[in-house]
Amino acid sequence: GFSWKLADHPKLPKGKTVAVVVLDGWGEATPNEYNCIHKAETPCMDSLKKGAPERWRLVRAHGTAVGLPTEDDMGNSEVGHNALGAGRIFAQGAKLVDLALASGKFFEGGGFKYIKESFENGTLHLIGLLSDGGVHSRLDQLQLLLKGVSERGVKRVRVHILTDGRDVLDGSSVGFVETLENDLANLREKGVDARIASGGGRMNVTMDRYENDWNVVKRGWDAQVLGEAPYKFTNALEAVKKLRAEPKANDQYLPPFVIVDESGKPVGPIVDGDAVVTFNFRADRMTMIAKALEYENFDKFDRVRFPKIRYAGMLEYDGELKLPSHYLVSPPEIDRTSGEYLVYNGIRTFACSETVKFGHVTFFWNGNRSGYFNSELEEYVEIPSDSGITFNEQPLMKALQIAEKARDAILSGKFDQVRVNLPNGDMVGHTGDIEATVVACKAADAAVKMILDAIEQVGGIYVVTADHGNAEDMVKRDKSGKPLLGKDGKIQILTSHTLEPVPIAIGGPGLAPGVRFRNDVPTGGLANVAATVMNLHGFEAPSDYETTLVEVVDN
Ligand code: 3PG
Ligand code: CO
Repeated sequence: GFSWKLADHPKLPKGKTVAVVVLDGWGEATPNEYNCIHKAETPCMDSLKKGAPERWRLVRAHGTAVGLPTEDDMGNSEVGHNALGAGRIFAQGAKLVDLALASGKFFEGGGFKYIKESFENGTLHLIGLLSDGGVHSRLDQLQLLLKGVSERGVKRVRVHILTDGRDVLDGSSVGFVETLENDLANLREKGVDARIASGGGRMNVTMDRYENDWNVVKRGWDAQVLGEAPYKFTNALEAVKKLRAEPKANDQYLPPFVIVDESGKPVGPIVDGDAVVTFNFRADRMTMIAKALEYENFDKFDRVRFPKIRYAGMLEYDGELKLPSHYLVSPPEIDRTSGEYLVYNGIRTFACSETVKFGHVTFFWNGNRSGYFNSELEEYVEIPSDSGITFNEQPLMKALQIAEKARDAILSGKFDQVRVNLPNGDMVGHTGDIEATVVACKAADAAVKMILDAIEQVGGIYVVTADHGNAEDMVKRDKSGKPLLGKDGKIQILTSHTLEPVPIAIGGPGLAPGVRFRNDVPTGGLANVAATVMNLHGFEAPSDYETTLVEVVDN
C-alpha cells in the first residue's frame, strides 16, 4: 500500500541543513545591455556559475516542462513553484481550461449549469484580465466563453476588464479592448445585449494577492458591483486611451472607470439575480475578489451592497477553503508534494518570503494548499511587503530581511530545510524600469550571499535556483532576437516573464564530495528539482517523481 516513508538514499547522509533559494524572475540569457542580471554586480551568483557543469546547470522553466499548453508559453511563478515543490509536471490551469473548452465539457459541468440559471432573468458579468498573456487568463478563452454563453441563452452580458501590461507589452490593452468591443458588437447583432461595463489596471484594481492591499479589491468592487468610479466614460476604448495618458498611469496601473449611458447611469452594476464569472484561471490574484463576492460575513472593506448572485470562478482558487464553491473547470490535483513527504519523514521546514511572494514559496510550493502539513515541524514567515508603491521605487524590497530570517533559521539548528523566495528580479522586472531592475538583481545576489554564508557556518548544503526568467531580458525582440522599436522609435520594454531557462546551483560544505549534476538529463526542468532536494536530505524520491539531477560518483 501507499506509504509516506521515503527510502534512505544509498549514498547520501541525513541531517544536513539544506537551504533552498528561489530567485524569482531570474533566467539565463546572453549578456547584453537589456540583461539586468548581467549588468548588475552579482558576485555570488557569478561564483556559483563557475561550478558548471558539475555544480551549476540550467533547467527548463517554461512551456510543457511546467505543464503549460505550448513551448511558446513563458514560465510563471505559479507553475514554476508548483513544479519545484511537486516534483512532477501537472497540466496547469491554462491547459485544463483549453481542454474543457475543446471537448465541450466546459459547458456541461455543474459550475456552468449553476450560472446558467441566471441567464433568463439576470445579467452575466465576466470579470478578469484582458490579455493574451496566458499567465492568469487568455483572451481566446474569454472569446470562447462569450460564444458559448451566447449559444446557450444568455440575454445580457457585461464584461469588467482589467488591463494587463505586465504579462504582455504595456500599451497592448488598446488592441485587446478593440478586439473585445468587436466581439461584443457581433453578439449585439445576434440579439445579446453585450457591453463592457467597467475597467481598470490589474495592479490598481481587483488583482491584489496575499492580502497585500484590500483597497485594490475595493476599487474593483466599487466599479464592478456598485457602478462607482472616479472616471466615467461612455466608451471603453476611449477610457483606456484617455486614462493611459494620465500621470503615472499605464496598462498595469489604470485608474478604475465605469461605462455609463447617455444619461450618466452605469451600464452594468452587479445586482440581485445576476451571475458572475471571474475568468482568470490562476488563483493567487483571484482569491481576494472571490471572498468578497462569496462570503456572507466579510470585514475587509465596506461592500455597501452585497448582491445575491450566482458566482463561479474559472477554476477553484483555493482547495482548502473550497473557494469559490462553484467553478467551471477543476484545478490540477497536485498531491504528494515534496514538502508533505519531507515533513512526514521528519524534515523540519522553514519557509519565508515577503508578502508579494509569500504564497509562492508556501501555497504554490505545496501544490496550491494553504497552511502547514504539520505545524510542529514547520514555520512559515511572511515579511510584510511595502504596499502602495511600484517596486522600482524600492528595488531592494525586503531581500535583506528575508535573508536575515533565513540566516537565523539556519543558525538556530531548528530546521533541516530553509526555503526562501527572493522577489526582486521579478517584481522590479515587471515595472520595466531597467536601472531599478539592475539594483534589484544586485540586492537579490547579496541576499543569496548571506544565506550561503550561514550554510557555510553550519556545514550545510545549498540549492539555488529560480522559478522563471524575467530580469535577464527587458526588451521585446523579433524572431531573430533583435530588439524591437515602438512607433516612437524607442525600444519596446518587456515587462513580462521570458522563455529562458533558469540556473540551478548546488554546493556547501555539507555536500558529499562525489555529488555532481548528471549529464544524462539534458532537458531537465523545474520538476526535477524536488527529487534532487530529497536526495540532498538523504532520501530517495518517490518513483513517480521526475528524476533527480544529481548523481554520486566515488572518488
Ligand atoms: C503577476 O501576477 O505579478 C504576474 O502576472 C506574474 O508574475 P509571477 O508569476 O512571477 O507571480
Ligand atoms: Co512575475
